[in-house]
Amino acid sequence: MDQDAVKRTLGEPRSAYRRALSAATLAGFVIATAAAGADRTVQTPSIFGPASTPAYAIRELALIVFGITGVIFLVVAGLTVYALMRFRRRRGDDGREPPQVYGSLQIELAWTVVPILIVVVLFLVTARYIFAIEWRPQSPQALEVTIVGHQWWWEIRYPKLGIVTANELHVPMSDPAHPTPTFLTLQSADVIHSFWVPQLAGKMDVIPNKTNRIWIDPQKPGGYVGQCAEYCGLQHAGMLLIVTVHSKEDFAKWAAEQQAPARADAEVRAGRELFSSLSCINCHAIRGTTANGVFGPDLTHLMSRWTIGAGVIQNTPENIRAWIDDPASLKPGALMPAMKLSPGDLDKVTAYLVSLR
Ligand code: CUA
Repeated sequence: MDQDAVKRTLGEPRSAYRRALSAATLAGFVIATAAAGADRTVQTPSIFGPASTPAYAIRELALIVFGITGVIFLVVAGLTVYALMRFRRRRGDDGREPPQVYGSLQIELAWTVVPILIVVVLFLVTARYIFAIEWRPQSPQALEVTIVGHQWWWEIRYPKLGIVTANELHVPMSDPAHPTPTFLTLQSADVIHSFWVPQLAGKMDVIPNKTNRIWIDPQKPGGYVGQCAEYCGLQHAGMLLIVTVHSKEDFAKWAAEQQAPARADAEVRAGRELFSSLSCINCHAIRGTTANGVFGPDLTHLMSRWTIGAGVIQNTPENIRAWIDDPASLKPGALMPAMKLSPGDLDKVTAYLVSLR
């Protein structure tokens, strides 16, 4: 799928993405889902719009649980309303307390045993779905991706393809007839995060010193938004991610572009030399240069990404310049320090970074 198709699916990606995410972050997923009814161009992060097998299973389970709890609600609320109407105070009441019933073995057994059975059924059904999702063996056709949670961004590595990127996961579509799922290995560099793309799979915690796994097999090309789902510090809400699902050919094209070495355009040489002389290279990597830091996002193909700061602002030259000048002005608490460059140097480094397509 070409970039235009992604844009069509997502609407105008940056604004639509931010609109959906800020709505989701501020008002909760329910309201974002309601808003989507009016504007179908945005795929809001709703568990009721699944696009991948684990998400379909979770919706199925949610509907079963809603069904059972809905019946309980109707019975309890119905009996309550009936009692309120039927036994309400009437003119001519003698004011005495009605007869009280204590110690009825049948009633007490009923309201103990029936709820226990309901809980057991809910437990067994849930366990069945969890194991069906978790025990799926990794097929040889599966794409392997390692995702590392950082305060506050996602590092995304394709070990077999030699690709490293950030905050924007690209995967091939999985045709149910010839599944090509993506198996994600989740690790954390610092604190506990949680990886959650509601339309593709359930939540999975991302825990330091522990490796968790999750898989997705999106069946429709398009963009799917996600969010860190475990409070991880000041910018927990600024830890967004977007999954772009490509057709097989388009994924191969994307991968080839990402595998290409970083551009070394002659006209931005001054910026490139300045960049390598600054402390930028201690935290950021640009493949094929002396920059090989691992604390911050890999910048080899920086301009192929839609946002900077893990979804907090659009990836534009102006925003990159403002970010280098003072990241905290755009993302308070961001761990990258203000670089304190002169305006001229800022322009040079920006021109270099913007050339990294
Ligand atoms: Cu990472 Cu919340």
